[in-house]
Amino acid sequence: MRIAVVGSGYVGLVAGACFADLGHDVILVDNDQHKLVALRNGQVPIHENFLPELLNRHRGRRLQFSDDLQEAVRQSAAIFVAVGTPPTESGEADLSYVESVAREISGAIESYKVIVEKSTVPVYTSDWVRKIILRNGTNPELFDVASNPEFLREGTAVTDFLFPDRIVVGCDSERSADVLREIYAPLTCTNKEDSYYQRADSIPQPDRATIPAPLFVTTTKSAELIKHASNAFLAMKISFINAVASVCESVGANVNQVVQGIGTDSRIGPRFLNPGIGYGGSCFPKDVMAFRAVARESGYEFRLLDEVMRINEEQRQRFLRKVRSALWTLRGKHLGVLGLAFKGGTDDIRESPAVFLVQALLQEGGKITAYDPAAMERTQEILGSGIRYANSAYEAAQGADALLILTEWEEFANLDLSRLRSELRYPIVIDGRNLYDPEVMAAHGFTYYSVGRAACHPDGVPAATLKNGPGNGTKK
Ligand code: UDX
Ligand code: UDX
Repeated sequence: MRIAVVGSGYVGLVAGACFADLGHDVILVDNDQHKLVALRNGQVPIHENFLPELLNRHRGRRLQFSDDLQEAVRQSAAIFVAVGTPPTESGEADLSYVESVAREISGAIESYKVIVEKSTVPVYTSDWVRKIILRNGTNPELFDVASNPEFLREGTAVTDFLFPDRIVVGCDSERSADVLREIYAPLTCTNKEDSYYQRADSIPQPDRATIPAPLFVTTTKSAELIKHASNAFLAMKISFINAVASVCESVGANVNQVVQGIGTDSRIGPRFLNPGIGYGGSCFPKDVMAFRAVARESGYEFRLLDEVMRINEEQRQRFLRKVRSALWTLRGKHLGVLGLAFKGGTDDIRESPAVFLVQALLQEGGKITAYDPAAMERTQEILGSGIRYANSAYEAAQGADALLILTEWEEFANLDLSRLRSELRYPIVIDGRNLYDPEVMAAHGFTYYSVGRAACHPDGVPAATLKNGPGNGTKK
């Protein structure tokens, strides 16, 4: 099938490359000329596993890059809209890019097309897109608007796309549902010849893949809600466990044990129960706010979501208090920082709790040397020379008064602890991602603070239980 994908950001680029890998002819449209030139020249603008392979495989063949949206619409049966939907000041999603794309598309519809929302948008957006296209004089018989939300995690977006838990297709007509079923047929069909999974060159299957992928057809409104509700639920799971971690700190329990105990209940499940410094990224913060705004507009005060956001914000403050209580004053202290990306496996620093914490520590007079395997260049664009950048985790630790772990990169969980200790000026590690076992850290001579577990000292004596959380350190 011929497909256009509008917007070649994190979502559009991955979707376009994956559609090409499924065998479709894809035109990726973007209005950013620099991005188009870079993509045509073989550059990969984001750090994403398997994306370079897919772009190499299909660039110039099944995957074309263009700035001509109308021509792409004329040539395609389905147009996936994946332009940005950033939050406005009041927390609603800014849909102006979606609207301008809808307006432009309308001028090029000469035969039947399915316009598919891929960006995360509030419920009713499909109605608006439809109205805009009709307002511009398009024959209603010539198009349908559908919603096909993405559930792609950065870092594993390609395998999330090709091996999804489910594919949700929101369509208000059988005709548009058929087009989307056909597009995803290589992932959903059971016959060997047509299945993507039977191909010798398919991307390797991750653990826990559901094959073939289930596809649900819903109304467009339900599909729009499924996306917001999924992300809000996952954010709630993280805030829930962060709140439990705070109780663990107050009573001297171990949150890891609690997670194991509750996560093995199959009704709850162990995933997305890692406590830490709170969720970040381009989706959860924005989507929780947008879902709350949509609910309010429809007459429902979704206060649970306020609390999810409040706990998330509080989690960063708790971590800052932990740093202060470990180091007393911060002015002039040298801090090694491991991790700047909003999570491991990506170079994305949008809404990164790590970058937020670095900025807060700088404001308190700390001197920072940071290392991140992928996100240093992007951080430099924001923080400039305000911090030093190291070439390795050990270099970041050199001569530091303490080491802070802020992103859950796998390599940070496998450091040579003896070497790390010898690099640090004082053997203090404050881990915002619980990458280490406190007893192991104490045995290696560290004073180790983490989230939802008692702090440990080298002599094996847990630090005094912090009655009111780690709020007793003096802030200078
Ligand atoms: C997208 C969705 O917008 C968001 O709702 C979802 O939750 C996550 O995926 P992302 O892919 O991260 O976000 O967006 P971004 O990296 O900003 O890319 C958007 C692309 O669209 C950019 O390359 C931009 O140049 C392009 N664009 C934007 C257009 O081509 N036309 C426009 O009118 C606006
Ligand atoms: C998310 C959704 O998972 C994906 O389905 C979607 O549609 C896009 O948004 P992403 O933002 O890439 O994906 O990252 P995700 O892996 O969900 O992590 C989000 C944030 O939560 C990160 O900051 C991460 O560190 C944090 N997190 C995640 C936790 O703090 N604990 C966890 O257990 C899981």
